[in-house]
Amino acid sequence: MAIRKVGVVGCGLMGSGIAQVCAQAGFQTVVREISGELVEKGLKGIEKNLDRMVEKGALTEAEKGEISGRLRGVTAVEELKGCDVILEAIIEQLPAKRELFAVLDGLCPAHTIFASNTSSLTITEIAAATKRPQRFVGLHFFNPVPVMKLIEVVRTIATDPGVYEEMLAFGAKLGKTPVRANDGGGFIVNRLLVPYLLDAIRALEEGVGSVVDIDTSMKLGCGYPMGPFTLLDFVGLDTTLYISQIMFDEFKEKRFAAPPLLKRMVLAGWHGKKSGRGFYDYADPANPKPMNL
Ligand code: CAA
Repeated sequence: MAIRKVGVVGCGLMGSGIAQVCAQAGFQTVVREISGELVEKGLKGIEKNLDRMVEKGALTEAEKGEISGRLRGVTAVEELKGCDVILEAIIEQLPAKRELFAVLDGLCPAHTIFASNTSSLTITEIAAATKRPQRFVGLHFFNPVPVMKLIEVVRTIATDPGVYEEMLAFGAKLGKTPVRANDGGGFIVNRLLVPYLLDAIRALEEGVGSVVDIDTSMKLGCGYPMGPFTLLDFVGLDTTLYISQIMFDEFKEKRFAAPPLLKRMVLAGWHGKKSGRGFYDYADPANPKPMNL
């Protein structure tokens, strides 16, 4: 099947990045948000990223114009019905995702392939809301989407092998390196990353080291681009808590259990960089200061 037109549902941090890489790869891209303001906010973010690429000489003005010309923001879900592939990047809540895909299933032709960018729910439980589980995969991107090279391509026991190969090829066309992952909670990356991040919080709770010293240790001792607390603030503490709860529910293992400090911080509204506070205070964003926890 030739993929020409791609639909992206959700134009937040992940959805806007996904829409950007689809348009950059040459696909006609329709991106849907629930309000005109959110569409505008998402498209503005993409515009800013493309402008930065022009400034750095990675794109010409003409190429930027072509990419923007392939992108269309919409609010009505009906606008997605002509798409060959639909990538969902909405709120990480099962009922919302199932409701969306049930509607899309009724709207879209039989050939349309559905994909979810969920990081922690199983693809099987989302796909079960449709009559096409054989044309359903996970396409899990990483933040920031335009920069991170990986895409996890997730198959369920119901995914058609031909559809799966097409989606691996689609991931490569987006300029990403696809890896094959089965539909186990957290796939490959979060299965390993989430216990590491939660253990960093437990180490802090137990007084093993300070926020800055633990971050510095993992950056300079292991060559990680960000220490665990900088990464937690970047991913979002609310998102991490939510993912850990889903994974704990799935595996019932302590390594996925949320440490009390994480719960307290989320209750206090300290969601990380996006809320101005997390393990660091971002009052001066260029110079984050560790919080006194
Ligand atoms: N959007 C677009 N481009 C961005 C960007 C963004 N949000 N942030 C940074 N960049 C670009 C910069 O423009 C720069 O580009 P050039 O090299 O072409 O100049 C490049 O990325 C490097 O940026 P910086 O020099 O400013 O900073 P850096 O070297 O520290 O890189 C980083 C920033 C890529 C985010 C790096 O710190 C990193 O790799 N961090 C780890 C990120 C990570 O682990 N992500 C996965 C999170 S988990 C997840 O997403 C999945 C989940 O399910 C929870």
